[in-house]
Amino acid sequence: MDITILGIESSCDDTSAAVIRNRTLLSNVIASQAVHQKYGGVIPELASRAHQQNIIPVVDTALKEAGVSIDKIDAIAFTRGPGLLGSLLVGVSFAKGLSIANNIPLVEVNHLEGHILSHFVDMPDREIPHPDFPFLCLLVSGGHTQIVRVDEPTKMEIIGTTIDDAAGEAFDKCAKVMGLPYPGGPIIDRLAKEGNPKAFKFAKPHVEGEFDYSFSGLKTSFLYTLRDAVQENPNFIEENKADLCASLQKTIVDILVDKLIKASKATGIKDIAIAGGVSANSGLRDGITEAGRKRGWRTFLPELKFTTDNAAMIATAGHYHYMAGEISSLEVSPVARIQDL
Ligand code: KG4
Ligand code: ZN
Repeated sequence: MDITILGIESSCDDTSAAVIRNRTLLSNVIASQAVHQKYGGVIPELASRAHQQNIIPVVDTALKEAGVSIDKIDAIAFTRGPGLLGSLLVGVSFAKGLSIANNIPLVEVNHLEGHILSHFVDMPDREIPHPDFPFLCLLVSGGHTQIVRVDEPTKMEIIGTTIDDAAGEAFDKCAKVMGLPYPGGPIIDRLAKEGNPKAFKFAKPHVEGEFDYSFSGLKTSFLYTLRDAVQENPNFIEENKADLCASLQKTIVDILVDKLIKASKATGIKDIAIAGGVSANSGLRDGITEAGRKRGWRTFLPELKFTTDNAAMIATAGHYHYMAGEISSLEVSPVARIQDL
């Protein structure tokens, strides 16, 4: 029997809807919100309003592009959290309304689990390599940095996490200090290609937890380097932008890969995946590939369109929960923090 899932994602600043059938992608529509760019970060209130405007056309387009009418949908999967509460509320409320109006079961999805399961979205025209279970996933997004041991699609355990900033946050905050627009991660990635990664040295953290991360020290070290240098030469940032980006990116990648190597050694797991917005970073993709080549890993890098927020991954996670009989009640409410999920 065919299982067709509608996925809805609204946790941050992208409104997205996708339709999958038996895990094969039929449509994946994303409306990104340009409104935040001029503020140098996502403004929660503006994000909620934009979701409110986008959600109906986005879901409608996803169904139309898939050629699927709402009565053929077996379950509506939606992001329950973590994320911005006002943004999540729009997706959760819309999913509930659609569920009541059409008598379709609801399936809640943890956004981070969605990122990890983006490795299991099948394309209609080609096979995507899937990691075998158990595998390790380095989840690197704007708000989270974790090493997750994935035993089954619906059974995973966080074995390492950041104790302060996320990797994406480190990219974005350092970019802001250099006067680059939001989000800074992709811009640093681009500028780093022309720079020397050994030009500058920034502090690397010493964290207690064997697989845990910290990025706030690096951010401070970056800030002080710039502040001292700019006092001597006001054009310092402009003149050294590429080298600064390359050195910063190399430091972040080294920190990320180092703990992942430790986790692989300790668990004996050699199927290694990365996921989340920062998994688009070319330095990280090269770093993981290189580390894997030396250690006999099978490495899994998501296609670029599945690195940032999208509903295809939410629908895929929803597919597994639905198959496991995990249906949400209509009383379900969004949850902002991962600790509360
Ligand atoms: O997963 P995501 O789309 O949203 C969250 O769930 O947080 O991740 C967004 C983060 C931002 O911090 C952005 O700067 C970062 O992913 N990012 C990148 C790149 N593309 C997106 N960071 C470094 N290099 C990139 N190419
Ligand atoms: Zn995300």
